[in-house]
Amino acid sequence: MKNIVLIGFMGTGKSAVGRRLAARLGREFVDTDEEIERVTGKTIAQIFARDGEIRFRSEEALVVKKIAARENLVVATGGGVVLNPENVRALQKNGVLIGLTAAPEIIYRRVKRKRNRPLLNVPGDVLERIKTLLAERAGAYAVAEFTVDTGGLTVDGVVERIVAYLEERGLIPPAPVRSADK
Ligand code: S3P
Repeated sequence: MKNIVLIGFMGTGKSAVGRRLAARLGREFVDTDEEIERVTGKTIAQIFARDGEIRFRSEEALVVKKIAARENLVVATGGGVVLNPENVRALQKNGVLIGLTAAPEIIYRRVKRKRNRPLLNVPGDVLERIKTLLAERAGAYAVAEFTVDTGGLTVDGVVERIVAYLEERGLIPPAPVRSADK
């Protein structure tokens, strides 16, 4: 079975939704950021601070390549993974790309207390920074074949929409009818 790959901006819910979706489908869950931290033995913030973004992107591309060669996974990607066309090609080869979005104000609310995202850990107006990055990246996130706005939804609500889409497309087997539903 093809991998289910969640793409989208920071704070749109990729990791939380991915973990829940994997549990729901009985699949293994992989998060590209967690994988980078595991193989390098450093946090994302440390890699950015000590080695720079370019080094982070090359670690990220290596991890993506390995993950894309596997199957039957649910994958949560870092928000910048789709900026590299090679990553997109690899992930599309054996995967279905699902986009998650949210309004800038909602993203801001979700990320503001966390300090683990170097690209948002900048002096000045973080909401403006989010808006600018979102605008710059809109084209990159458009590679998703199906997109869910996670703004007004719970994690389970998002999972249900994705499952419905995947079933409709025949990308996962239809859920068995439970006897209580008959
Ligand atoms: C990034 C998003 C982060 C992480 C890194 C860079 C980006 O992942 O990969 O800080 O460029 O958007 P999340 O989207 O999981 O926050």
